[in-house]
Amino acid sequence: MSNRAEPIRSVKGTRDLLPGETALWQRVEDEARRVFAAYNFREIRTPILEQTALFARSVGADTDIVTKEMYTFQDRDNESLTLRPEATASVVRAYIEHTLFNEGGIHKLYYLGPMFRRERPQKGRYRQFYQIGAEVLGSDHPTIDAEFLEMLALLLGRVGLTEYNLLLNSVGCPKCRAEYLKVLRHALDKVKDKMCGDCQRRAVTNPLRVLDCKVEADQPIIEKLPHILDHLCPECRQHFDCVTGELQQRGIPYEIAPRLVRGLDYYTRTTFEMTSGVLGAQNAFLGGGRYDGLSEMLGGPPTPGFGVAIGEDRLLLAVEQAAGLKLDAALDVFVAWMGDAARDPATQLVRTLRQQGLSAVWRIESNYEPAKLKKSLGLANKLGARFAVIIGEGELATGRWQVKDMAAGQQEEVEAGRVLAYLREKLQKG
Ligand code: HAM
Repeated sequence: MSNRAEPIRSVKGTRDLLPGETALWQRVEDEARRVFAAYNFREIRTPILEQTALFARSVGADTDIVTKEMYTFQDRDNESLTLRPEATASVVRAYIEHTLFNEGGIHKLYYLGPMFRRERPQKGRYRQFYQIGAEVLGSDHPTIDAEFLEMLALLLGRVGLTEYNLLLNSVGCPKCRAEYLKVLRHALDKVKDKMCGDCQRRAVTNPLRVLDCKVEADQPIIEKLPHILDHLCPECRQHFDCVTGELQQRGIPYEIAPRLVRGLDYYTRTTFEMTSGVLGAQNAFLGGGRYDGLSEMLGGPPTPGFGVAIGEDRLLLAVEQAAGLKLDAALDVFVAWMGDAARDPATQLVRTLRQQGLSAVWRIESNYEPAKLKKSLGLANKLGARFAVIIGEGELATGRWQVKDMAAGQQEEVEAGRVLAYLREKLQKG
């Protein structure tokens, strides 16, 4: 009988991103940072652990996220803590806690990191997933909304995603929403008995949440419920018309989606999602909107806000499928040395290439043990090296190293002191 220990596996709904995948993740994150910087966003990093009350108060006590999906536990001192299911609440908490509002003006913040929701895992849905998010705090101007959506279109274009739908709606303000909720409750009174248990409860406690019910049998009933867009107050109507007008001016196509109320309670006015046809059931790869009352809900001063969270896992799936993008980290130079006498000059060269190539991020590798040329070149090939520098007995005698272009199979003799300049020129061209 084998007494080998049972291997321990990763937790259900979480996954390892292996080196073959992370190059593409880094590329998307680099593009996001670049585009955010162009629109004057700065990074904020908030903790993954927050007090449970933060999400109950902002996302909403009656949402799926808070009632069913949070990883919540009592800490050793009995404080209730939660692994963040999203980060907008954390950003606004930090904004209030550090009185950023005292600086005045508009704050544009972005973040990247893992979020946790105990959902049923499937393609594009994980219990630990990653978001790239951005938030604008301090203005309710409709230009903010339109410019933000323009920024997302730019980012998606930069990562090679051009086929997607932008779905747009307005959920009004507390004033017109209260009026709409009366109408919705009235409509639900007549049909709620035929709906699922959650909807029957929410028809009373939080009727807006009925609109994002996913139960198949409820869908025909939900389709016929009144639309919030038909019940906006004049100010909210005007805001929405300005947003759509500016989107048209900027040449950004959108689709009105009157049922798009989103699964979080903090939204006011504009809500949006982007979906991709290549994703299957979990087709929304980003979502967001305006949340003009959130700061006050969290005990801060009135501060309008607007933001997005991109589901990075889903964006990556869409980018890979739509653009067929695959990146891998191939080697730039392999330094192959033979015989003990070549070890020192090879070590020197490897160090110089690594230090001097940093700004262009050259990848350099070498054999750690003396090895036969054939074996070293085989390894260089396997690692995808573009060039191999060969240092053996003959080269040591002449002071000239062989530099081999691995793809072309051509080899040139280069004076030891000129190898760096030679490779710099060749690598720049490629
Ligand atoms: P959300 O719609 O809950 O919004 O999440 C945003 C995106 O995160 C979704 O569109 C989806 O792509 C991704 N996502 C959500 N759950 C999962 C999961 N279990 N597995 C994989 N991806 C997932 C928010 O989180 C808001 N904080 C967005 C926001 C920012 N609103 C204003 N500012």
